[in-house]
Amino acid sequence: MNREDFPILKNNLIYFDNSATTFKPQAVIDSMVDYYTNYTANAHRGDYDNSLKVDIQYEEVRTKVKDFIHAKSEREIIFTSGATDSLNRIVFGYMKTHLKSGDEVLITKAEHASNVLPWLELEKEIGIVVRYIPLENHIVTMENVEKSITEKVKVISLAQVTNVLGDVRPIQEIGKLCQKNHILLVVDGAQSVPHFPVNVEELGIDFLAFSAHKMLGPTGVGVLYGKEKLLEEMRPLEFGGGMNATFSSNGEVEYKSLPSRLEAGTPPIAEVIGMGAAIDYLEKIGMERIHQQEIELKKYFLERAKEVENLVIYNPDLENGLIAFNIDGVFSQDTAVYLNHYHICVRAGNHCAKILKEDLFVKNTCRISFYFYNTKEEVDELIRVLKNTKDLFQIVLS
Ligand SMILES: Cc1ncc(COP(=O)(O)O)c(C=O)c1O
Repeated sequence: MNREDFPILKNNLIYFDNSATTFKPQAVIDSMVDYYTNYTANAHRGDYDNSLKVDIQYEEVRTKVKDFIHAKSEREIIFTSGATDSLNRIVFGYMKTHLKSGDEVLITKAEHASNVLPWLELEKEIGIVVRYIPLENHIVTMENVEKSITEKVKVISLAQVTNVLGDVRPIQEIGKLCQKNHILLVVDGAQSVPHFPVNVEELGIDFLAFSAHKMLGPTGVGVLYGKEKLLEEMRPLEFGGGMNATFSSNGEVEYKSLPSRLEAGTPPIAEVIGMGAAIDYLEKIGMERIHQQEIELKKYFLERAKEVENLVIYNPDLENGLIAFNIDGVFSQDTAVYLNHYHICVRAGNHCAKILKEDLFVKNTCRISFYFYNTKEEVDELIRVLKNTKDLFQIVLS
């Protein structure tokens, strides 16, 4: 679908690593080149035409993001450098001053490092307790979420879709449970927002984090969504230009209101504009259609995979665009190197969810992650190469 819009696809390459980052359509590249070529200026600082144009473009993207995730107000949208930055701001900008020693935070062993390590650091800093919701066949069940809730649980922080198996968590039901129990719900949307419609209001999400580069946009920019009343109480982690209203030498400081208060310094202007173009592009195709195309590709892969001997697939029953697999007896990195020989890009390793090995009992997997521009013909080529692995070790060792 829409392959002609992606200049990089003109190369002889089969790209199945879209959970790591996606390719960029020409429209996104053009929007950034246009900013650099035709109207470079800083944001929120000038009184001339180009600077005004930048301000309009920049703030229009905030509205686009707001509409894209169905937030209530532009004041709930903060531009960050990506999902990791957003999650760190949630933990150190909000939770650090709102949680106390002994308060519990529920996560799972399948979370990405960016949704584990900030919490573990906060545990060391102020004595919160990080607990893990037990997984049932690697997935989160409502029963286990309910069982894990105690009086002390103040936060549940989960990926909506994991980057290892691609399982989709029941966020709406968890949201209702959180509301009932006065628990804050933090959602890592790095692998969900790019792939299907996300409505923060309907899902009952308090904080959401995601990155533009996993949804056709540039690297270096992402989003922190937070309910306005929560963001009002979030402490900035950076102080400086752009976020202060006034300050004087006697130490009096007044900060701006949301969202500027949480965006210190010159922002990544070209990247924000690129993210806006990416959202326009995704919306033109339709998020539901994107989701269906990925599911379709996985179904096709699973059908054809029956022809391949020794293929172990860890998540065949999950309806998504992600396949975790190994060739039986072959180290996953070797499989990835072998596939690379045929210009097929997959990810091998633990996918930044290192503690999952305690649950899945494999240290490493290969991961295929589709996006809408992948095709059945590409899957056919992958199957052809996987069926014929007799020269695998020769290729890996060469
Ligand atoms: C589930 C999940 N959360 C968070 C991240 C971190 O995203 P970024 O590196 O863009 O900050 C990733 C990246 O792969 C991810 O898959």
